[in-house]
Amino acid sequence: MANCASRDLSVAVTRVRCLVIGSGAAGLWAALHAANDGTVLVITKDRVTESSTNYAQGGIATSACPEDSPDLHAQDTLAAGAGLCDEPAVAILTHEGPQRVMELVSYGAQFDQVNGQWLCRREAAHTRSRIIHAMGDATGAEVQRALTEAVRNHPEVTVREFTQALRLVLVNGEVIGADTICTATGERIRIVADATILATGGVGALYKVTTNPLVANGDGMAIALRAGATLEDMEFVQFHPTALACDETPAPLLTEALRGEGAILLNTHGERFLDRYHPMAELAPRDVVSRAEFLEMERLGAEWCLLDLRPIPEEQIRANFPHVLQMLTDRGFNPFESPVPVRPAAHFVMGGIATDLDGWTGLRRLYAAGECACTGVHGANRLASNSLLEGLVFGYRAARAARREALLPLDAVEAAGSMEPPAVPALPSDVADQVRELMWKRVGIVRNSDGLSAVVDELAHLWQRTEWSPWPAAQEAEAANMVEVASVITRAALAREESRGAQYRTDFPETKDEWHCHLRIRKAPDGSLEFSRRPVARR
Ligand code: FAD
Ligand code: SIN
Repeated sequence: MANCASRDLSVAVTRVRCLVIGSGAAGLWAALHAANDGTVLVITKDRVTESSTNYAQGGIATSACPEDSPDLHAQDTLAAGAGLCDEPAVAILTHEGPQRVMELVSYGAQFDQVNGQWLCRREAAHTRSRIIHAMGDATGAEVQRALTEAVRNHPEVTVREFTQALRLVLVNGEVIGADTICTATGERIRIVADATILATGGVGALYKVTTNPLVANGDGMAIALRAGATLEDMEFVQFHPTALACDETPAPLLTEALRGEGAILLNTHGERFLDRYHPMAELAPRDVVSRAEFLEMERLGAEWCLLDLRPIPEEQIRANFPHVLQMLTDRGFNPFESPVPVRPAAHFVMGGIATDLDGWTGLRRLYAAGECACTGVHGANRLASNSLLEGLVFGYRAARAARREALLPLDAVEAAGSMEPPAVPALPSDVADQVRELMWKRVGIVRNSDGLSAVVDELAHLWQRTEWSPWPAAQEAEAANMVEVASVITRAALAREESRGAQYRTDFPETKDEWHCHLRIRKAPDGSLEFSRRPVARR
């Protein structure tokens, strides 16, 4: 583990075989698998453990549990995805997933067991009990712990904390690494690599209410977009139905597994309401539950709904959800006595940097994996507990492809050593809160043309304050990335004139055949956004 210490503002150049940007499940897993062929450097903009991965609760979906199969897991994934999942990607996720999970165990991750068998739990929209978990409800912390230890012990992997990627370095149309700064001291390092893997996570931090840590602000997507990569399905932002209704960021989560074990949702009049919206009631897909909550809150003028844990036996809560229970107790709630206030919160983005099934972005030597990438595996709505699995399956594939990259030609390495960095956008850091407010109010669970158009205009207005600098301050670069990615999400949501999965438009409430496709966005040479459609892949 290395941290930046120097305040020297000249640009240091570091040469590695593979650069991984991000230290969640996808990044650390990719680093371990890229490492068999030379040095790997992982950079991460906060502590190594500050990632969405570390906050994950419910578990990992794997058909390694009894009475299940990869095909059944695939069927549930496709059903949740509302017609937009790419079948080849889903087949890879569900068929390769169990093997990756076994490897994760061999790296030291421990999942809850009884009599030597994994305890498999059910979550919403799964037709089988297939979710393995750790310490009851702290699966992500266990995955992060195991992988952090594994990279620490790996002789070929170095992790550099508090180091933020500002831009990708391109020479002759190839990505040959990234320019980075130390978030504490401003130290500047150009990392030259034969292959670069973006694993920068999602976009929850673009929203005022989110379960994600603030590092999830879309940096990787903005950086890739500016380098010429394509983003896909960005309009599909998933809102988790049961974040604690409070002012904290991230909002503490009450895992979906609670509803899997019997917890029910009530409105503020104490009435159960989900059966009015979907036959699966509490176990309906996430987009349905969040939207039902939103409508119920609006109907009653309420700020929250209530999650009633009392249908679950007390001992079961203590045994299976110790961290959720502790979190509630710390905040003065007693779930054995009364229901807990919850509301939806931005949680996951189905879209991201478009890649093929080996994580390749279409830019030479650049790969992406995990939540920042879009393989088409989640379609318009992710099935619960498929995301950690995605990081393992596609992080492995990206690493395998990255390992095959040839050494950079000498002239490219020499050019990288002396090249002047192109300027990147920077905005005052107070812009970040304005973005969060706008996105939460108008680009959330329920959208319409007027609200989306207003946000497009407001974001364009904020963008006018942009200053371009080769080495902006870390937070100012983040604020500009937030505006860029928020604009992409909003423009995509406006372009898709239908409702499907996580996108619900009051002005276009129906699902349309003409929109049975992925929506892709890239930057034209003049900086404007270009849209195109990609058909959904079938097997
Ligand atoms: P992350 O884990 O978010 O890691 C991204 C990394 O990139 C971070 O280290 C960040 O610091 C770094 N980074 C970002 N920008 C830069 C930059 N510019 N320079 C350098 N580093 C950068 N999924 C499940 O499957 N099961 C669950 O039970 C589950 N529960 C969840 C509960 C919560 C509260 C949350 C928030 C998410 C949950 N999810 C769950 C979703 C899942 O955790 C994430 O989708 C997944 O962990 C993402 O992994 P990742 O490696 O792609 O990104
Ligand atoms: C949860 O535990 O409810 C989150 C699961 C997920 O996001 O996959």
